[in-house]
Amino acid sequence: MSKSQNITWHDSEVTKTDRQARHAHKGAILWFTGLSGSGKSTLSVALEKALFERGIHTYRLDGDNVRHGLNNNLGFSPEDRQENIRRIAEVSKLMVDAGLITLTAFISPYRADRDRARQIVKDGEFIEIYTKASVEACEARDPKGLYQKARTGEIPEFTGISAPYEAPEHPEIVIDTEQTTIERSVQYIINYLEVHHYIPTTL
Ligand code: ADX
Repeated sequence: MSKSQNITWHDSEVTKTDRQARHAHKGAILWFTGLSGSGKSTLSVALEKALFERGIHTYRLDGDNVRHGLNNNLGFSPEDRQENIRRIAEVSKLMVDAGLITLTAFISPYRADRDRARQIVKDGEFIEIYTKASVEACEARDPKGLYQKARTGEIPEFTGISAPYEAPEHPEIVIDTEQTTIERSVQYIINYLEVHHYIPTTL
């Protein structure tokens, strides 16, 4: 719901279709979701590099990075996480309009927030990728030492420990990061994008 009134939409003469034709691929959001330490950032970084090397126009938005700037006024309460995801979804929608394959790496623990993100873009423009790993595996990895702090209570409302994570019910892609290498995961997602005609197939 918008607070402002008396605002009028003004269309550009260059359309999303024009931009997609120029880029020779579609725009879409690759929405990574999963626990902290489940591999969202690592996999999205590797995937973006592989796509970029194939000439695909990409941009990546990452939870820790975006919270340094655009969302530096948000914490980790359910309301703040909801607003975090709402803003990212709106920014990602603009990027899709600009013709980019947009990769987002946010825990995005609430199903309703992810579903709202899906609904603001067109059918087929939202590809949910679940980086599946157990809390135990993520805690054993603990790349930032945050699980340890969550266990002692130093970090409150920590996803998987003292705040919920609602796994996707029908994600387009599931990557079991306990079983699958980064290289195979990247190849799997690229294959999905080719088969579904988001990007051209390489010969
Ligand atoms: S989300 O839940 O709102 O989607 P987001 O992906 O932006 O989270 O940020 C998660 C990152 O913030 C984690 O990877 C971790 O580095 C850091 N973080 C700090 N506090 C918390 C917390 N209480 N719960 C989860 N992640 C946290």
